[in-house]
Amino acid sequence: MARVLVAATGGVAAIKVPHLLRLLRAAGHEVRVLATPRALEFVTPLSLAVAAGGEVATEEAWFRPDGRALHIELARFADVVLVAPATADALAKAALGLADDLLSATLLAGAKRVAWAPAMNQAMWLAPQTQAHVERLKALGHAVFGPAYGPLAAVGEGEGWGRMLEPEELVERLHAFLTPKDLQGLRLLVSAGPTREYLDPVRFLSNPSSGRMGYAVAEAARDRGAEVVLVTGPTCLPDPWGVEVVRVESALEMRDRLRERYPWAQGVVMAAAVADYRPAEVLAEKEPKVEAERTLRLVPNPDILKELGQEKGDKVLVGFAMETGEGLERAKGKLWRKNLDLIVLNWVNREGVGFGSPENEVVLLLKDGRILELPRMSKRQVADRILDFVKEFWQA
Ligand code: C5P
Repeated sequence: MARVLVAATGGVAAIKVPHLLRLLRAAGHEVRVLATPRALEFVTPLSLAVAAGGEVATEEAWFRPDGRALHIELARFADVVLVAPATADALAKAALGLADDLLSATLLAGAKRVAWAPAMNQAMWLAPQTQAHVERLKALGHAVFGPAYGPLAAVGEGEGWGRMLEPEELVERLHAFLTPKDLQGLRLLVSAGPTREYLDPVRFLSNPSSGRMGYAVAEAARDRGAEVVLVTGPTCLPDPWGVEVVRVESALEMRDRLRERYPWAQGVVMAAAVADYRPAEVLAEKEPKVEAERTLRLVPNPDILKELGQEKGDKVLVGFAMETGEGLERAKGKLWRKNLDLIVLNWVNREGVGFGSPENEVVLLLKDGRILELPRMSKRQVADRILDFVKEFWQA
């Protein structure tokens, strides 16, 4: 967890800063808050102080009666400064190295890492001056989150590029920014979610996979610097930012999309719950209901992972196995049959983990015989453990 200085500058999005502060604290970060005089026209010092759990650094408090200078103290405190919302003016000053107010002086005084969440009118954002300043800041190693497209604040402005990202997304972006890039250079293909095997245009066979495990792998890999393509069956989850998302429905479609990307990939994490069977025939029209028993003929779907395993080369392959009872032996069998480096064993019927849940309790079986039983943890944490081994095999 990090020490985060949130610096609000003058924009209507400053009203979202108390929520941002609360989210950062809930995520375990230690926060302080700075607000420019213009920011304080939109949000009160009291709401910022309450949300931050401490006093607000303001222009008036810059030089203290005891001789201490707040900009030095804040620059030393912060592992990262998140300027949110960031005006065009604040970006410009930082890009030029001006230091005539508390925020710009703090940034110049050696803030270790800096991230910006711009919020302004689209014309100001797209102005070549602003874009040049943004490029300059990026070249200095600063991160720029957004802005997003959407309704703009000023009356009569309609939609455009210039909205501050929502606090939830800023917290995610910040987390990614602070994560060491130990998978930089890795091209990773991830599959997720269920497949749908249609009987007719409105009926299908499927399973309760939520896609969370695969999405967690894709997001964790992205945060660690990998280039990620996520091939996903139907889920309710939003597309993760910074990941190329390919949406599919059936197992055959998933196979086609994965095979297309396979030559590109250096690693594959196959977290999708692929249906083992599909109806032998798919009707073009919805079949009317009849009051009689009926039989459905199913044919097996191809085992996608097994096929990929047959052309493995030096790619890293990770599979999942969902088992009851004799799970360990069966998972071991799959590890070999499918030519994998690692298989992640999930237990069916275990309360609060697996399908649809945010948590998982898994056993990792490695091709070299190592077996790791992980305690119950978030799917994101499981994803990171899996990726630790992907990294090990990739670099081997
Ligand atoms: O053999 P089983 O279905 O238990 O293996 C599970 C693993 O194989 C998972 O990684 C799953 O994504 C993958 N799989 C596949 N194609 C199938 C069935 C499963 O790639 N038709």
